[in-house]
Amino acid sequence: MSQTDRRIRIPRRTAAVAALALAGLVATAAPAATAAPATGTAASAAAPDIPVANVKAHLNQLQSIATANGGNRAHGRAGYKASIDYVKGKLDAAGFTTTVQQFTSSGATGYNLIADWPGGDPNQVLFAGAHLDSVTSGPGINDNGSGSAGILETALAVSRAQFKPTKHLRFGWWGAEELGIVGSKYYVNNLPAAERSKISGYLNFDMIGSPNPGYFVYDDDPALEKVFKDYFAGLNVPTEIETEGDGRSDHASFKNVGIKVGGLFTGAGRTKTAAQVQKWGGTSGQAFDRCYHSSCDTTANINDTALDRNSDAIAHAIWTLGAGGSTEPPSGDTYENTADVTIPDNGTAVTSTVNVTGRTGNAPAALKVGVDIVHTYRGDLVVDLLAPDGTAYRLKSASSGDSADNVQTTYTVDASSEAANGAWKLRVQDTAAQDTGYINAFRLTF
Ligand code: TRP
Ligand code: ZN
Ligand code: CA
Repeated sequence: MSQTDRRIRIPRRTAAVAALALAGLVATAAPAATAAPATGTAASAAAPDIPVANVKAHLNQLQSIATANGGNRAHGRAGYKASIDYVKGKLDAAGFTTTVQQFTSSGATGYNLIADWPGGDPNQVLFAGAHLDSVTSGPGINDNGSGSAGILETALAVSRAQFKPTKHLRFGWWGAEELGIVGSKYYVNNLPAAERSKISGYLNFDMIGSPNPGYFVYDDDPALEKVFKDYFAGLNVPTEIETEGDGRSDHASFKNVGIKVGGLFTGAGRTKTAAQVQKWGGTSGQAFDRCYHSSCDTTANINDTALDRNSDAIAHAIWTLGAGGSTEPPSGDTYENTADVTIPDNGTAVTSTVNVTGRTGNAPAALKVGVDIVHTYRGDLVVDLLAPDGTAYRLKSASSGDSADNVQTTYTVDASSEAANGAWKLRVQDTAAQDTGYINAFRLTF
């Protein structure tokens, strides 16, 4: 969902896509009072917000599949194959090339589902995976409907955006993880060495909606780790390194053959400490997932905020890492906040904040300020950019005769005397009675 600010690194080659994505925003702009609007080069191919409602809809389907098949989706059971069919159907309809790989484990047929997004460099494959099987004792909604649904919805977002990344994108849903990471091991073992060496990174998502969540990032490849850490830093959500069991999920199959791995995890049977409750909230002295591997791992066993943040983090990683890897330097990092902020009618000013981290030095002389305000009479509005130290840059003054709707444009601000890092705010005040609106989005491109 869209209540948070996000940091996105965008290489130059995606600028055309970015310009398209922002076309509506830029094209409808009226010239600003004191700052010139940008002219179509907004370098922002932000990952889309992943609607958590869509992710939850997939979880509801997986729950129904379990309920209709003896209460589980385990290897060798009907609920597993039905889960494969559900995910495959969505991907086929979205234009992926899907392959079902069969294997045998414990005397039963198992299935991996591989989905390739057409295009991208076949010698640079960015891979995201999740195990789709549950244990026999329950429906496996957090473990691991959550990761399965998170990567499925990200794949569907790739299709909706018709994303054209530099890298080739591949997604995998593994069978028989619960029997000892069997399916992913089978996939890797049957992949010729030449194909293995084309995989530039494998990202694993196993349990990303734990009901008493922690925010854990796999500590393996530093570049993959950084993408996730930066994302959560932009949300002001602290992370910890995943330590509940390295080698306990499918990334181990890839890591064992020398492929770079990363991933996210919200905790399983381990107990949340008081210190972790300090940073994340929740219940101390209680497991991250009290229903881990049990019958109560149902759709009630999901923390929506954790599922939402982690799903958005998956999309961020796919967009960031998928676009990258070329020799061209990045042209701009975009930071955004898409939380809606109501603007009181003829009232006090309100703000939307974007937290910028990890930069050095000052902001650029041509800082791009994307403003998206929905309003029924924009002449009422005074709009300022506030630098982290509080310095105000007037973007737009009130103008009583301007009865047009909305302020949807990109301003260029000389912010070269401001430190780049810190909390930047968009401040909006409605100065006349009757017409109203809200801040829809605020983005900064450095
Ligand atoms: N893979 C385990 C399972 O499915 C869960 C788990 C435990 C895990 N520790 C982990 C997953 C660390 C990822 C990372 O039962
Ligand atoms: Zn699992
Ligand atoms: Ca008004």
